[in-house]
Amino acid sequence: MKKIALTGIKPTGDLHIGNYFGAIKPALALTAEYDARYFIADYHALNTMKDSRELNSTIRQVAAGWLASGLDPEKVIFYRQSSIPEVFELTTMLMAFTSKGLMNRAHAYKAVVQENNEKGGDPDAGVNMGLFTYPVLMAADIILFDSDVVPVGKDQVQHIEMAQDIAQSINANYGQQILKAPQAAVQESVAVVPGLDGRKMSKSYGNTIPLFAPEKTLRKTIMRIVTNSQAVEEPKDPDTSQIFLLYKLFANAEEQNALAARYRTGGMGWGEAKEELFRVVNRELAPVRERFEAIMADIPALDKILAQGAEKARPIAAATVKRFRKAAGID
Ligand code: ADP
Ligand code: TRP
Repeated sequence: MKKIALTGIKPTGDLHIGNYFGAIKPALALTAEYDARYFIADYHALNTMKDSRELNSTIRQVAAGWLASGLDPEKVIFYRQSSIPEVFELTTMLMAFTSKGLMNRAHAYKAVVQENNEKGGDPDAGVNMGLFTYPVLMAADIILFDSDVVPVGKDQVQHIEMAQDIAQSINANYGQQILKAPQAAVQESVAVVPGLDGRKMSKSYGNTIPLFAPEKTLRKTIMRIVTNSQAVEEPKDPDTSQIFLLYKLFANAEEQNALAARYRTGGMGWGEAKEELFRVVNRELAPVRERFEAIMADIPALDKILAQGAEKARPIAAATVKRFRKAAGID
């Protein structure tokens, strides 16, 4: 039997190239070897997104983004977290085994408290219970589907370790293996994709190259990449240029060697390097963008795919909850 890989994608904004190389592509690469269960973590997004129209739209955009990038819903169980009521039933059960102290130590919560303390205000300002208990809902997402591995970025490893702790303490309490303890799968080889200003590409820095921007906007965005004031004739170092770092993600070896040589000889201005970057980015993204637009043009069909995924997911979820309730004496 294949092992199970599961990951959740929070629909908090438009997908960008960092998400594509850092999360989507590596997760899709696992689908050959694992039984994959990938879902849209819409209740997690609700903690921060209170505009209903925006949330409704990002849920579809992120789902369409995964399908356009190659997720095959025949091979991957692909669903919305909010369509699986067992997630919330399991969350309640896990709560009974999760110490408040464990939640106090969660990085995301601690970061908000620290920021509040630095400002000298109420330490819990802006903290809702959804943020505070975020790791329990995430543990339920994972444990419910008997996940072996959870592909995530480094920032999420603590959450997977908490899911492990919670599952193990439940198994220890009942003296039997009721729940599977998951492992994080951090793709060390996936480099941090730089943004327009050279920092990590991130929505929160406003420095992203959106994955599905129309061609004109894509070109304009690439032209906004920050460069130094080196003149056209000066030789340039490809290894310290974010244009070149981005280029490496999209160009083949021959193209990379050719552009690196042009950097080193001089005579090429930044504008020209950006044009060449745009060419290879658009070559890879144009077909993905076309598929994305086609999917977004038929939302009922997209919703049907997600609903069919939920139908496949629910019997697996129900079996886990049943096992746990029986062990707990609530059957
Ligand atoms: P953002 O920083 O834009 O808010 P998220 O935190 O929602 O992005 O990230 C979703 C997924 O995309 C995570 O798995 C994260 O590791 C990956 N990711 C985001 N930005 C990058 C980046 N610049 N380089 C590599 N991976 C990234
Ligand atoms: N917390 C994850 C993030 O911010 C999203 C997520 C929710 C998740 N539930 C999950 C990831 C379960 C992996 C497994 O990126």
